[in-house]
Amino acid sequence: MIGIFDSGLGGLSVWQALYDALPNESLIYLGDGKRCPYGSRSEEEVRQFTEEAVERLLSEGCKLIVLACNTATAVAIKGLRDKYPTVPFVGLEPAVKPAALTTKTGVIGVLATERSLQGDHFRRNEEKYGSEVKILKAVGEGFVEVVERNEEHTSETEALVRKAVEPLVAGGADKIVLGCTHYPFLRDVIARVAGEKVDIIDSSEAVARRVATLLDENGIRSDEGTTPRYTFLTFADEAYREKLFNKAFNR
Ligand code: DGL
Repeated sequence: MIGIFDSGLGGLSVWQALYDALPNESLIYLGDGKRCPYGSRSEEEVRQFTEEAVERLLSEGCKLIVLACNTATAVAIKGLRDKYPTVPFVGLEPAVKPAALTTKTGVIGVLATERSLQGDHFRRNEEKYGSEVKILKAVGEGFVEVVERNEEHTSETEALVRKAVEPLVAGGADKIVLGCTHYPFLRDVIARVAGEKVDIIDSSEAVARRVATLLDENGIRSDEGTTPRYTFLTFADEAYREKLFNKAFNR
């Protein structure tokens, strides 16, 4: 069983990539739901919620854990690796490197939550690539909330996306990195607002490849022909659990 955690529905974009890439693996998804969004919470809160979630997933017998949340990764992954040295963890971080290596304009845009943009991972990447390319940053204000409400296609959502994305495009970015797992659910709107000259970079598939590699390296990949089970958990209520299930399979 592979455990996948996010503050809410966003990590389902990673769940979908794992579902497609690893058809023999059972997946257990925990979407907090009760305390989402995490993006503007204190580091201490995010760390505490993430540890609680990981404990729950480990108690279900997970062999590998994906922190399908850039915000939780930025704050908690190091401590979790120290605390559970035998558990393979995969985290999410804004995909600055592929954007920086392929930009033609020399400008990339990164969309993420406030907490992720302040995290050490992002700062290190910014230092590493920021001398070669210009990195423009924007917080997707309200993005997580509209995805949580399944309101990806309203005019209000388009207005929120315009506010965050237009300055990146006006600044010359030809790559926009989706640095929060909720944002791929807004990919169509972001792409429309950004225009066809801009590539949108989502790390879900790269994460699925990384998980596959770790399963092999640790000798824990499920056998071909194994029938997978898909389980959804939440710290919110039954209605939210159903919402997780519906969003996972509805694409
Ligand atoms: N989906 C999350 C991320 O990747 C968390 C967003 C939030 O809860 O603010 O950062």
